Amino acid sequence: MTDEKNTPNCPANALSRRHFLKNTARGSAGLASATTLVSASTLTGALSGCQQQQTLSFEEIAHRLDHHHHAPNGYQTQRLLSWGDSLHRQDSFTPDTLTPAAQAQRFGFNNDFIGFMPLSNQQTATGYEHFTSSNSQRGLLCVNHEYTQPHLMFSGYRDDEDGDFNTRPEHVAIEQQACGHSVVEIELQNGHWQVNTDSPYNRRITVTTPMIVTGPAAGHPRLQTSQDPSGARILGTLGNCAGGKTPWGTVMIAEEGIGSAFIGNRSNIPKTEQDNYQRLAIGNDDNRRWGDVDPRFHIEKEPNEANRFGWMVELDPYDPESTPRKLTSLGRFEHEGTTIVAKPGKPIVAYTGDDDEFQFFYKFVSAGVYQPEQPAANRQLLEQGTLYAAKLNDDGSGEWLSLRHGEAFLTEQFGFHSQADVLIECRRAAAMIGATPMDRPEDIETNPVNDCTYVMLTKNKKRKTQDPGNMRLNNSAGHILELLHPGKDGQRDHTAHTFQWNTFILGGDPGSDTLNNQGFYGTGPNGETVSDAGWFATPDNLTFDRQGNMWVATDGCEAFGFHDGLWAMPTAGPYRAIPKHFFGCPLGAELCGPEFTPDGNTLFVSVQHPADAHGSTFDHPVHRWPDFDEALPPRPSVIAIRRKDGGRVGS
Ligand code: FEO
Ligand code: CA
Ligand code: CA
Repeated sequence: MTDEKNTPNCPANALSRRHFLKNTARGSAGLASATTLVSASTLTGALSGCQQQQTLSFEEIAHRLDHHHHAPNGYQTQRLLSWGDSLHRQDSFTPDTLTPAAQAQRFGFNNDFIGFMPLSNQQTATGYEHFTSSNSQRGLLCVNHEYTQPHLMFSGYRDDEDGDFNTRPEHVAIEQQACGHSVVEIELQNGHWQVNTDSPYNRRITVTTPMIVTGPAAGHPRLQTSQDPSGARILGTLGNCAGGKTPWGTVMIAEEGIGSAFIGNRSNIPKTEQDNYQRLAIGNDDNRRWGDVDPRFHIEKEPNEANRFGWMVELDPYDPESTPRKLTSLGRFEHEGTTIVAKPGKPIVAYTGDDDEFQFFYKFVSAGVYQPEQPAANRQLLEQGTLYAAKLNDDGSGEWLSLRHGEAFLTEQFGFHSQADVLIECRRAAAMIGATPMDRPEDIETNPVNDCTYVMLTKNKKRKTQDPGNMRLNNSAGHILELLHPGKDGQRDHTAHTFQWNTFILGGDPGSDTLNNQGFYGTGPNGETVSDAGWFATPDNLTFDRQGNMWVATDGCEAFGFHDGLWAMPTAGPYRAIPKHFFGCPLGAELCGPEFTPDGNTLFVSVQHPADAHGSTFDHPVHRWPDFDEALPPRPSVIAIRRKDGGRVGS
């Protein structure tokens, strides 16, 4: 989230010519001439960024791959919440006795997005007043639970890897209560975070939580089911990957990998939905077997149910009775997350990526304008506006193409009968109007210091042709783009229809020939280059600290021989794009959800699917992080990281 009031102006910096020449030379080594132009725009991007000193003085950790997590010397890590922890009482978790009702009161599986939502010490504060209090000692931790892995959750569970399934209704019911979202009150006491199990805010959102639908697709016949003829009241949310926060104090919950929850034969459903569902892997043969025991998730029994997922969901965590809202204005696809830029008196802009190979990234621009002092009115802003998909031109310019019914190819002739159809089949619509297919767009977020926007592109091994925005063939290491909207640092016009872009980093070992040796890592003023542990691959989630340093979490570094984790780097100034390695996961895990408290003194991270390795099961896991207790399986967990001296994380 970016708020102009908090966005400092910075003097333009001077990028070293050496950096420019290096990137140009590397970029043009094996690519078409267009790439040189894009590298030239790297110069533009860096020049317009803020002057940043190297504020990241922590002692870098090494690339490793073992059964433990790792943080720099001088830091303490605290396991704060794990799958199965009760939100309402202090007890121990016994997975063998877990029931659906018990799981509905306990922290879910595979934690992902984390939002820290401050709680003011004023008992009568409104949600908005809590949120804007910036209290860093007490708050609500809002955490997504992306998906379940029954072979790591249940003793004796068999699935397609074992040649047969033994899915029981009880398994599915527990899984459905282990997905979704958790709201948990936490408080800092003597340098350690405590979970308040008596808090009235503590709450689970699951696959059965009632939600309402807003925006152009609300009530549309393609969202109507036998359980909900209105098409406007949906049970639950799925595939809750990354997310975001709004300036009015709500959280944005993304619905990403929805397809795997649905089975059934696509050829037996209405023709309208067959291609639509295929695009989202809905009904594929290797999906989870929920539909065997719950007809909602069998597309032949309930053909429209899958159209009710793939949206962004907004939740007010400050009101435990609030009903989550599905926001259809932001389109339906595999949303990684959504982050918002809000400037007083201007429309709000919500960036969102579609995490799949050759899919697109988007922004939504509201019809109304943001008024900071009108939090209630602001809640309507995400319901009406225009969704755009990004097109990257070879010369380093970009365009936002509008997804409006009746324009371009989005007409009756091409099967779009309304704006609802455009939004339900957003992938088809964006492809038809000429958006640029990308290498799996994950998080997109705007740096609060230089107001540039960064797009994580995690990887795409299917890429067989290069284009300037996706430079690497068989892209196994991913990359990051930098978008510059018109205007100066801190005053960019994110509502503009055009922008400039450049490749900020190509992930991977900068010394590797197999990656075409096109590392885009920076070079410091004294010749500093990325260290042996500083390079990373497969960027996924990101956040920014108060100095504007970018913190990137990864999902896929084990393919390069080391753990997933967290890397931090300046985005401008002499140390631009020279990452340092801050945190490493235990074997099998990816890192998600990096989130700072407002004071920057605590960093929360999500360690997702620990011990997810070949052959690893509940009964015989490859390790039992974080408890290392024979009575407990490996458990996805949220970790709180602080400096032992209480200072700002990273500095
Ligand atoms: Fe759930 Fe795109 O990672
Ligand atoms: Ca992710
Ligand atoms: Ca991912």
